[in-house]
Amino acid sequence: MAPVASLVPGILLLLWLTSPSRACTCAPPHPQTAFCSSDLVIRAKFVGTAEVNHTSLHQRYEIKMTKMYKGFQALGDAADIRFVYTPAMESVCGYFHKSQNRSEEFLIAGKLRDGLLHINTCSFLAPWHGLSHAQRRGFTKTYAAGCEECTVFPCSSIPCKLESDTHCLWTDQLLQGSEKGFQSRHLACLPREPGMCTWQSLRPRMA
Ligand SMILES: *[C@@H]1O[C@H](CO)[C@@H](O)[C@H](O)[C@H]1NC(C)=O
Ligand SMILES: *[C@@H]1O[C@H](CO)[C@@H](O)[C@H](O)[C@H]1NC(C)=O
Repeated sequence: MAPVASLVPGILLLLWLTSPSRACTCAPPHPQTAFCSSDLVIRAKFVGTAEVNHTSLHQRYEIKMTKMYKGFQALGDAADIRFVYTPAMESVCGYFHKSQNRSEEFLIAGKLRDGLLHINTCSFLAPWHGLSHAQRRGFTKTYAAGCEECTVFPCSSIPCKLESDTHCLWTDQLLQGSEKGFQSRHLACLPREPGMCTWQSLRPRMA
């Protein structure tokens, strides 16, 4: 009995993994949400090719970390992150790195599990040089100020309304169809006064 019983979950898993209809879908987060919900936010170069582990069905990319913006405490003394892990298949949201350029830096926001950095296609991962000035400022210092109190609240269909004074309505997906919209590129949801958050511009002020 026991072997049969233990086979069933395996078969189900296999069916699930090979089912072509089960595509990975996820909406890209606002960068502030990505920052706040991640354990680790770093800047890194992809320096090696992907290696697949057929037991864990993960693949890992060798990276060289150049900066860390979040995760000092979570990481503790283990300080260096040499690999980033992702599911080996796109159907379960595996991330595939396309750039061959080993000197290009990427902003990577991911989760820490057993001391290892995990990402998937729903994670925020972008070339550092493609980020706006405001996004770089957000990741390096400003987004953190909104994590505790404020929430970027996605509005995906009209009408949507604020459910709380600490929410900021995020309409980029509706109006511009992606994380590349104005609120993503230039704004952060930050405390204005106790119990109240508003969108604030991180763009440099013109004198
Ligand atoms: C592959 O994953 C398994 C299960 O997580 C682990 O025990 C093993 O060490 C991994 N193999 C390699 C080569 O990393
Ligand atoms: C690789 O990335 C670096 C740093 O972003 C850039 O200066 C260089 O032009 C890139 N090289 C290629 C071949 O795209």
